[in-house]
Amino acid sequence: MGRVMPDNSHILARDGKNGDFGPFFANWIRHPIAMGAVAPSSKAYCRKMVDKASTELDGPILELGPGLGAVTRALLEKGVDPARITSIEYEPKFADALKRRFPEITVIQGNGFDLDATLGERRDEKFAAILFAIPIVSEKAEWRQTLFRDYFSRLRSGGNITQLSYMWTPPVPAVPGVFSVSSTDIVWNNIPPARVWIYEPDLAFSEIDA
Ligand SMILES: C[S@@+](CC[C@H](N)C(=O)[O-])C[C@H]1O[C@@H](n2cnc3c(N)ncnc32)[C@H](O)[C@@H]1O
Repeated sequence: MGRVMPDNSHILARDGKNGDFGPFFANWIRHPIAMGAVAPSSKAYCRKMVDKASTELDGPILELGPGLGAVTRALLEKGVDPARITSIEYEPKFADALKRRFPEITVIQGNGFDLDATLGERRDEKFAAILFAIPIVSEKAEWRQTLFRDYFSRLRSGGNITQLSYMWTPPVPAVPGVFSVSSTDIVWNNIPPARVWIYEPDLAFSEIDA
């Protein structure tokens, strides 16, 4: 039997808007590297990200770098139970705004690169999916791979990581035996046009894991 999807329309109706360009752009001027993009992701792009995420697996869902909630909203629009969503945002003003906007989800103000510290007592939890939107391309490739290895150790069997990025090559190179990477076509209706990158457990890894 398929999963019964909750009706989140009351949450979405209460929030009403999805136009956060002003505060997003203002924060980009102050912190261009941490923000990575001048504008929130478009609806079409967020929908693609959520469609590719392994949300059909049971279990909690981790969102890293939610900003003002463009992807969070797409998760809710898809019918994901808000009780499953934990969103980690570094910028305190954004984290506060997200808590007010979607009090039904769990928002943690903290560092998505240090999940042991940020998740605290929940550090050993295994997630069904990780949706990742923190800019990382200024970091070395080996550092990015180590980070994603850590994220994969926090996923349930069959779970994936989806990433928003305007890079034209994989932002995190595959690690054979741990994860592979593929992408969607470019979503042109986004500033800037970008792809969703999909990281999946490498078959060899799944066999060892089984
Ligand atoms: C490109 S924006 C994406 C926002 C939103 N997900 C969207 O698609 O519109 C990146 C977000 O990551 C947040 N961020 C940057 N570094 C972070 C970190 N180390 N941990 C958690 N969030 C971080 C920024 O504050 C910003 O809100």
